[in-house]
Amino acid sequence: WAVHAPYIAAIRELKARHNAVILAHNYQTPEIFHGVADLTGDSLGLAQQAVQTEADIIVLCGVHFMAETAKLLNPHKTVLIPDADAGCSLASSITAADVQAMRQRYPGVPVVTYVNTSAAVKAESDICCTSANAVAVVESLGVDRVMFIPDQYLSHYVSTQTDVEVIPWAGACEVHERFTGDELRMYREDHDGIYILAHPECPQDVLAEADFVGSTAGMVRHLGEKRPSHVVMVTECSMSDNVAVEFPEIAFVRPCNLCPHMKRITLPKILRALETRQHEVTVDEAVAVRARQAVERMLAVGR
Ligand code: 13P
Ligand code: SF4
Repeated sequence: WAVHAPYIAAIRELKARHNAVILAHNYQTPEIFHGVADLTGDSLGLAQQAVQTEADIIVLCGVHFMAETAKLLNPHKTVLIPDADAGCSLASSITAADVQAMRQRYPGVPVVTYVNTSAAVKAESDICCTSANAVAVVESLGVDRVMFIPDQYLSHYVSTQTDVEVIPWAGACEVHERFTGDELRMYREDHDGIYILAHPECPQDVLAEADFVGSTAGMVRHLGEKRPSHVVMVTECSMSDNVAVEFPEIAFVRPCNLCPHMKRITLPKILRALETRQHEVTVDEAVAVRARQAVERMLAVGR
């Protein structure tokens, strides 16, 4: 922490001076998550908190689609992302033209879009969802069939939790698709009684081995209720690092995969963002109006 302390102090000072708030995703490194963030959470939690903030500037420590969602919900605020190249393999797997083509193929079938997408894709959608409310969002539509884009694994998971038919897209999270069922079975053999939590972006053979499947915030809440003695969180690496601080009595076995996009955000870049007001996130108003509607419909469904 000694190496982080000067950055943390400078960031805190600038935040107060400019009435800025730092929203950090659960995958941010501990020095960001515990050192400078004002609000933390999963994608849904960040969107919900973005609506409520009274700050003039939002610094989104996460990936680009999260900053774009915050901007959609706060069109008159300045939203900054410390590294404009913090992308997401799911967001880059589909374009607005792809969604239009899908609609032609399945006329009248509503499009449910995971928030891990660009604003342009959201604008072509009926409603958004996150991993925390995907099933509730699908069921809220009262239809027999939906298109669910772009995560093939999340859409498969949703299809196991509802009677609604789910038409997928072939996108995947480059971090979660690397886990395997064999790997999880090995953790069970090596650590007697281990409790396994997995993110629904993982392939189905991984989810079949897990004791609990949920969003990043869902995992934290579940740990608080269940209090297992030793666990493995099958997700991005910073997750266990951050959660271990909250639950010192739980032993965390820490196999994990790094998200290179999340890791682009660092303390020096956050400081630079506050000093220079870069990189400002903007969304074309014609796109924003339609994308905002899809996000607001999701927020109305809740968690
Ligand atoms: P959560 O919404 O569960 O935090 O997930 C976001 C994400 O990018 C997972 O890879
Ligand atoms: Fe995207 Fe996967 Fe990284 Fe989440 S972990 S931001 S879904 S690439």
